[in-house]
Amino acid sequence: MTAEREAVCPLRPPEYVSYAHMDRLHELVEPRTDSPREVVFLLVSHVKELLFRVGYVELGQAREQMRADRVDQACLALDRAAQSLRVLVQTWDLLTSMSPDEFLVFRHILGEASGTQSFMYRTLEFSLGNKDPRMVAAAEDQLALYPQLRRELAARTVYDEALGLLAREGLDIPAAVLERDVSAQYRPDAAVELAWRAVYEQPARWPAAHRIAERLTEVAFRFSHWRASHLLVVERMLGSKPGTGGTTGVPWLREINEHRFFPELWSVRTSL
Ligand code: HEM
Repeated sequence: MTAEREAVCPLRPPEYVSYAHMDRLHELVEPRTDSPREVVFLLVSHVKELLFRVGYVELGQAREQMRADRVDQACLALDRAAQSLRVLVQTWDLLTSMSPDEFLVFRHILGEASGTQSFMYRTLEFSLGNKDPRMVAAAEDQLALYPQLRRELAARTVYDEALGLLAREGLDIPAAVLERDVSAQYRPDAAVELAWRAVYEQPARWPAAHRIAERLTEVAFRFSHWRASHLLVVERMLGSKPGTGGTTGVPWLREINEHRFFPELWSVRTSL
């Protein structure tokens, strides 16, 4: 490395490894059996966790931009969030090549470990607006451990920011919705559905709201796609066995699967 380059970049070679701590990253994969499938399961789990965070970062940007009425930038951030969710959906393909007998070789070492304990997934869900009291209760212990999760529980969600933007655009969003307790689960509101209906009936009159509506729908669609793919993978691996996290497994996930982010954006489709 030349002296000039060293002044610009003080990192010692090999930069790729030291900058991103690739050595530490690989050390984090500690299989407890000899199964190569377990190694892949761990790697895919890590990849998913990191992608949850990518989505969360982009949604944080989307919130900021909507709050500042910067619609172009908000759309860009929502597009990026949707893209991270599309990649997340594809990662299931890395697990579908595992047969149930291969999974059973290492399933027992999971004990009570379950995706339900993923604080990053929960942070992402909270930021989008799913503050289901059951999930909040399940995350109770984690709230003390992960300040970001606690902050997110008390923060305005992506949907709150979107509805605030709609109101500033001149659409009729009730004060009760704009001033709601943002730490609670979002409840669908008839007036909000009417506002979205106005947007879809007259997109030329409400171009900013229309662009945001379709981006939000894409994010919600991709998230639900991830959940639906997870459900299918679980059915393929476990049949109707209960989950390691203590739920009934497939029936429990099937119920979760019915949840939709930004509910009026889904219900409005019926009335168009
Ligand atoms: C063979 C693969 C997998 C199986 C059989 C499986 C099974 C399950 C089951 C049965 C549940 C319900 C809760 C429980 O009782 O445990 C669950 C929840 C969950 N799993 Fe998986 N899982 C698999 C892979 C993954 C991976 C790789 C991730 C991502 C890191 C993941 C993330 C989650 C999340 C976030 C939940 C909670 C969903 C919610 O609360 O809405 N799962 N999983």
